[in-house]
Amino acid sequence: MSDRPTVFVTRRLPGDGLDRLGEVAQFDVWPEDGPPPREVLLERVRDLDGLLCLLTDTIDAELLDAASKLKLVSTMAVGYDNIDVAAATERGVLVCHTPGVLTETTADLAFALLLAAARRVVEGDRAVRAGAWPTWKPDYLLGVDVWGATLGIVGLGAIGQAVARRASGFGMRILYSSRSREPDAERDLGCEHATFEELLEQADFVSAHVPLTEETRDVFDKAAFGRMKPTAIFINTARGGIVNEGDLEQALASGVIAGAAIDVAQVEPMAGDHPLLKLPNLVVTPHIGSASVATRTRMADMAVDNLIAGLHRRKPAHCLNPQILD
Ligand code: NAP
Ligand code: GLV
Repeated sequence: MSDRPTVFVTRRLPGDGLDRLGEVAQFDVWPEDGPPPREVLLERVRDLDGLLCLLTDTIDAELLDAASKLKLVSTMAVGYDNIDVAAATERGVLVCHTPGVLTETTADLAFALLLAAARRVVEGDRAVRAGAWPTWKPDYLLGVDVWGATLGIVGLGAIGQAVARRASGFGMRILYSSRSREPDAERDLGCEHATFEELLEQADFVSAHVPLTEETRDVFDKAAFGRMKPTAIFINTARGGIVNEGDLEQALASGVIAGAAIDVAQVEPMAGDHPLLKLPNLVVTPHIGSASVATRTRMADMAVDNLIAGLHRRKPAHCLNPQILD
């Protein structure tokens, strides 16, 4: 029997990271398109040293308890709300993620959604395909200007700041709310700090970039949408759990806000009959924020590098609980 560590990878990965993993570990890759079912994951982790997972896998105390040999969990994502990091830390299991490499790509999508919703790009596409392109007329598919408008960024971290850089090129006024002040972004990009409430009241576009935590769950609710301008557009490329979807649906259907564009949902994939999907003033994409060939390859490489370092008990470059190694 080999004394190399054992690893389970919960989906096929782009790039050649798994070749490098094969040099130091024996591993299996879940071969199907969807995530491994919970019972499979619970069974597979029993004898594992390392787990390379995706944001679709729930790594909680029950799973960690089933994995008595597990040294680390490496997720191919920056967001880690699917992982109970405190439970992992208590059990001496390292948790690693992939920040930074997807920042610009995700900001591109956030800005694409903002532009699409503002200028009614998807409605226009649908009309043309349906054979409903009327003659040019002064009042057809009028949207709102992005240039010169006010953007409110909730959570001015890596992606929030990358969105701010794009907004600055569009001559937008940029407000942000965050738990910490960001003096560099204030100085270099002219971002103005505001309370969450001030931001909601003043912004023409509100773009969310906070992680999903107990503090941010459902922060975009009836009260938040109620504070926004009736002309405002809400963009969410962060996590579905930060939004109360029933309240968003009400706000869009009753004109409390003008539109929304989302890349994430409370339950993914969204069911085809989800009430939000009936609304013409919603643009939706299927969680593709980081989905460029180059970025997904970089994320896979980083997840593998974190995993290899952790298997060797070296400090992985992007570890959420490195104190375990001290
Ligand atoms: P990041 O650099 O850690 O930025 C998160 C920001 O949120 C930080 O500025 C943080 O600042 C702030 N924040 C945290 N908790 C907050 C709270 N309770 N109230 C206000 N601000 C708070 O992370 P990132 O790389 O920008 O990624 C952000 C999120 O985007 C990820 O967690 C992930 O969920 C999501 N994401 C989605 C996609 C996609 O495909 N759609 C792709 C990548 C990332 P303080 O801690 O100082 O407050
Ligand atoms: C994607 O949503 C990520 O968190 O990387």
